[in-house]
Amino acid sequence: MRSLVALALVLLACGDDPPPALSFPALGSLTDPAGADGFRFGVATAATQIEDGNTATDWYVWTQPVADGGLGKGTFVGDAVRGYTRVMEDLGLVAELGVDSYRFSIEWARIEPVKDQIDETAIAHYRAQLEAMKAMGIKPLVTLHHFSNPAWVADPRDSACTAGTSATNLCGFGGPAGATIAAEMGQHAALMAQRFGDLVDEWGTVNEPMNYLVASYGLGFFPPGRASLLDLPKFSAVVRDYIAGHAAMYAAIKANDTVDADGDGVASAVGFSMLTTTWSPSRTNKPSSNPDDLAAAERITYLLHYLFVDAALHGTFDTNLDGTPDENHPEWTGTIDWLGIQYYLRAGVSADRPLLPAPVSVTPCIGGFDVGSCLPALDPTFCVPHMGYEGSTSGIEDILLAFTARYPGLPLVVTESGIADETGTRRAESIVRVLEAISRARARGADVRGYYHWSLTDNFEWAEGYAPRFGLYTVDYATYARTPSEGATVYRDIVHARSVTSEQRARYGGDGPMSPDPSFTDEYCTHN
Ligand code: BGC
Repeated sequence: MRSLVALALVLLACGDDPPPALSFPALGSLTDPAGADGFRFGVATAATQIEDGNTATDWYVWTQPVADGGLGKGTFVGDAVRGYTRVMEDLGLVAELGVDSYRFSIEWARIEPVKDQIDETAIAHYRAQLEAMKAMGIKPLVTLHHFSNPAWVADPRDSACTAGTSATNLCGFGGPAGATIAAEMGQHAALMAQRFGDLVDEWGTVNEPMNYLVASYGLGFFPPGRASLLDLPKFSAVVRDYIAGHAAMYAAIKANDTVDADGDGVASAVGFSMLTTTWSPSRTNKPSSNPDDLAAAERITYLLHYLFVDAALHGTFDTNLDGTPDENHPEWTGTIDWLGIQYYLRAGVSADRPLLPAPVSVTPCIGGFDVGSCLPALDPTFCVPHMGYEGSTSGIEDILLAFTARYPGLPLVVTESGIADETGTRRAESIVRVLEAISRARARGADVRGYYHWSLTDNFEWAEGYAPRFGLYTVDYATYARTPSEGATVYRDIVHARSVTSEQRARYGGDGPMSPDPSFTDEYCTHN
């Protein structure tokens, strides 16, 4: 009896033990095999979401009020968070966090507002930014295509595009000028590599290609507002052009960035970032073990996680999106040195009453596709207000392991993860929990070389406008002042110590419910 009591006490004591601290090694290379042990802490932004005066983008004309010549869709991007004129102040925040690297994007529409006319003042601006970063010891990871285009690539106002071609713009991917746009992307990347290659070694060509294309050409809630997802051959032509654009950018950077900016022996490391999601088989609002739903989860994971990466690695294209490649594009082969993984959420997926046609045949239960038949049992403590989805942190462990198994030898880096949150506490939880999951994945063999938090400041969240707050630093939209949230304080401490302490883990980590968010007003959050 006494020994049973002793055993119970020991077990209780073990249960109360704080989790051990997790330490992270110093910055290493993204691609060098010798750098596999390194780990970078970073923070990420994108130009359209932060910069003021981006008047030549498709997003500007898409959201600009009709009275001023735009289409008045969603919230007007306007001057975003004035991140262009405040760039040096914002770099100060990056430095304050102490991160190794800053992932930001260069706005193509600023560099080339009119086709073939280069704006040298914009080049000088980004050059000054990169020089300041060099002086501060912050390594740039530069994205070239993050959801936005110069309006001349696909002006959403141009009705001539509906009929086929337009005299004044290229009318987007998947159309008669799709191959021309891919070539234009390559030329833009060549210019960027020529002008900035002495300061930049790490480049991202495109950001979240599949969900970008679904939003802009599949469902039409991003410019240019096309809805072709139910016509899969049409959608597939869009994807093919975009992969070609990526491959052209890769080749152009490799040919034109020949300077090893940081002396680590690598002149250019080029990759791209995929949005990844935990797709949970579900039916009638409950988790499902129906084999049809399990297969549906596999199909959507293939389409959104792997198809694009397979194309860049193997030079193949799966025209009818059925899981078996049927075209060869040797010029795409090997156009990836590292892969960015971005992770935010869990969503349901079902084979029940499929919304997407064969061979995809699934109902993804998220956003506009939510028909109420297959939401996973939603735990409201994970609901992300304003975004309408169930946030997830620990699920990234399995995602990283799945990519490791499918693409052995391909270095991974978490180029985005974060949460829309008004208190800052959930942001701290998101950071600690994702770092815990990355640590577990690394211990199980995943080659994960870093973590970039999304985002530095609050910003323009595309179709959702300014309501979701993703910033480590909160922006006051009346004065544009930036104030550190609890997430910023916790992340700064982690970065400076290169460790998540036992106390931080006990307070913010684990798998338990997240702290309540006072703005649980979405219908989605109360669904059950
Ligand atoms: C995108 C960002 C976006 C973030 C949060 C990612 O899909 O790359 O532009 O702001 O997620 O939703």
